[in-house]
Amino acid sequence: MLKCDNKIQTTIDMVEQHQNSSSEIASLADVDWSFAERERPHAIESIHPYPAKFIGELPRALLRILPCPKGTLVFDPFAGSGTTLLEAQRLGLPSVGVDLNPIACLIARVKTGVAPDNLTEKARAIGSAAAQSRAKRIWKIPNVDHWFKADVQTAIGALLDKIREVDNQATNDALRLALSSILVRVSNQDSDTRYAAVDKKVSREDVFSHFLGAAEKLNKALLSRDWSLAQARVIEANTLTMKPEDIGGRVGLVVTSPPYPNAYEYWLYHKYRMWWLGFDPLAVKQQEIGARAHFFKRNHHTEEHFWDQMRETFHLVRKVLVKRGYACFVIGRSKIHGKIIDNADIIQAVATEAGFTTTTRIERTISATRKSFNLSHANIKTETVLVLQKN
Ligand SMILES: C[S@@+](CC[C@H](N)C(=O)[O-])C[C@H]1O[C@@H](n2cnc3c(N)ncnc32)[C@H](O)[C@@H]1O
Repeated sequence: MLKCDNKIQTTIDMVEQHQNSSSEIASLADVDWSFAERERPHAIESIHPYPAKFIGELPRALLRILPCPKGTLVFDPFAGSGTTLLEAQRLGLPSVGVDLNPIACLIARVKTGVAPDNLTEKARAIGSAAAQSRAKRIWKIPNVDHWFKADVQTAIGALLDKIREVDNQATNDALRLALSSILVRVSNQDSDTRYAAVDKKVSREDVFSHFLGAAEKLNKALLSRDWSLAQARVIEANTLTMKPEDIGGRVGLVVTSPPYPNAYEYWLYHKYRMWWLGFDPLAVKQQEIGARAHFFKRNHHTEEHFWDQMRETFHLVRKVLVKRGYACFVIGRSKIHGKIIDNADIIQAVATEAGFTTTTRIERTISATRKSFNLSHANIKTETVLVLQKN
């Protein structure tokens, strides 16, 4: 084991070193995995909130150091808001990502897709047309009156009606994303991470002005991307039921951070965004790996479920990944009914069963921003970066 004596105490464990991969492994050891000296992130990285998302530097370091042979894809089986896909694109690498959560997929698609023509003008026209409508409706959204004032509901509904009329997919996606990004702000919910109802004195005019502001910000971020848009495909699906042929090509490199038991709740975080945009958060919750709800019911999930889910994941990864290809998994610890579970140990064991060797194990400190989404019950302060190689 090699201990780096810097103030964040990053430990790098080089478990096994292979002759033909030793230079890559040595380069991994040179990285400051705390990314204490981060540059200001590109505006495209913060177009919409997402819990437990990568800081761009993390996948960027892995994608720069580890090989992705020509003609193969970078793959993220739990793509979330698409940080791996975006970083692959910045390096000119084609990629594919899968996520169950439709809001995650929307963010990832917009981040890596073409910039729509005249987005700001379209948002302005939609806002003006929507402002004419005051039609009241009954929404099939549980507790909608608790979380959204009546005139805010009519404004959101009118915007959605107008957005629905936009045929161009990239424009439609961008407008829905802009609206999604302001939904917590115009709701009675205190903040993205605090589920308490408070009176924020939001009016229907605020809905239209925040929507236009979000579209302008998004447009600026999209237009300021100064790299060419390598192919990035986003698949909205359950990774555990994917077939290798669904991935659409050979994979040269996997970079992912899987969900883990009893930690973040992606479906809950975006519950109202999903209701408004016409998705079913309860169906997402049902299939979401690690959702807390699965651990607090009769016949609740256990650590064993996570073992099986990761076995399924590695079954897929093994099938699509090239020989001697790398799979990087970034993962933290969980607490299930009082017991601390080291998920990296589970991934390592499952990967070994599936015919992978652990080449590098890094313990990194999670940044303060990531921790703002954090959960006191899990007390997550560090996470593990596992670099596995297919035998
Ligand atoms: C740690 S997050 C990934 C964040 C991502 N690295 C980013 O930068 O945004 C894990 C993701 O796994 C997704 N997920 C959970 N269960 C899933 C399943 N069965 N199939 C596909 N994705 C799933 C969640 O929706 C969540 O987006």
